Amino acid sequence: MSLLNIDGLTQRFGGLQAVSEFSVDMKGGELMGLIGPNGAGKTTIFNLISGFYQPTEGTISLNGKPTAGLKPHQVTSMGVARTFQNIRLWHDMTVLDNIRISQHYRMGYSVWDSFLRTKKYIRCEKAIETIAYDLLEAMSLKEFAEELPKNLPYGLQRRVEIARAMSIKPHLLLLDEPAAGLNSSDVEDLIKLIRWIHENFDITIFMIEHQMKVVTSLCQWIKVIDFGATIAEGTAEDIQSNPAVIKAYLGDDNI
Ligand SMILES: Nc1ncnc2c1ncn2[C@@H]1O[C@H](COP(=O)(O)OP(=O)(O)O)[C@@H](O)[C@H]1O
Ligand SMILES: [Mg+2]
Repeated sequence: MSLLNIDGLTQRFGGLQAVSEFSVDMKGGELMGLIGPNGAGKTTIFNLISGFYQPTEGTISLNGKPTAGLKPHQVTSMGVARTFQNIRLWHDMTVLDNIRISQHYRMGYSVWDSFLRTKKYIRCEKAIETIAYDLLEAMSLKEFAEELPKNLPYGLQRRVEIARAMSIKPHLLLLDEPAAGLNSSDVEDLIKLIRWIHENFDITIFMIEHQMKVVTSLCQWIKVIDFGATIAEGTAEDIQSNPAVIKAYLGDDNI
């Protein structure tokens, strides 16, 4: 069965058709790329998958279950985690707390357990802390556990954001332009990190990326959209030699 199935997804904002009949079928364990010029509709597709918008038309299913009508937190609890084009972190909380906070919804204690500091609450809090530290260690972030994200270089902030996404143990990880704003050595580190996550976790990754180098070195399959519509798909090699893709990226003169 598919992990993510999208069929005929269309999104209109007033008169603007931001996404037009987009379809994709991802099996568990795939690492797929989504590329296209600015304004092509890429982030909108992620907003639709993660429940921020309800589609004008079309269906999205996770492990065969339709997500229509679900709120973002309900989609998260189905195992979907994401990062944002502009990094979103709690900048006045430590790196450790940024990781801890996203896990609370997974824990089985009630508001009363928390208020009364019951044994169950204390046990859950300990478990959360252990998981958070283990994750920070695995992602080479442990030495920054007590830092505020705003004091870290941008490349590390991106790493923290990805660690936070990973802390919910997602089946599907959506990365929205993870290399945006990174310098070239940070980009190399990011490529290694994404490859490491893909190889070491039971996870499916769908990534939007503007930098061709990142997509072509990581993704097994790439979908290309322009003005909301799919204009090409294939392997890195297919895409790079596809005239429609070259035209969308560089304009007619470069064909
Ligand atoms: N909430 C919204 N309301 C109105 N228009 C939107 C909204 N979100 C995105 N758009 C528009 O949809 C188009 C696609 O945007 P987006 O998905 O962010 O593109 P991309 O991520 O490919 O750069 C753009 O023209 C954008 O202005
Ligand atoms: Mg975008």
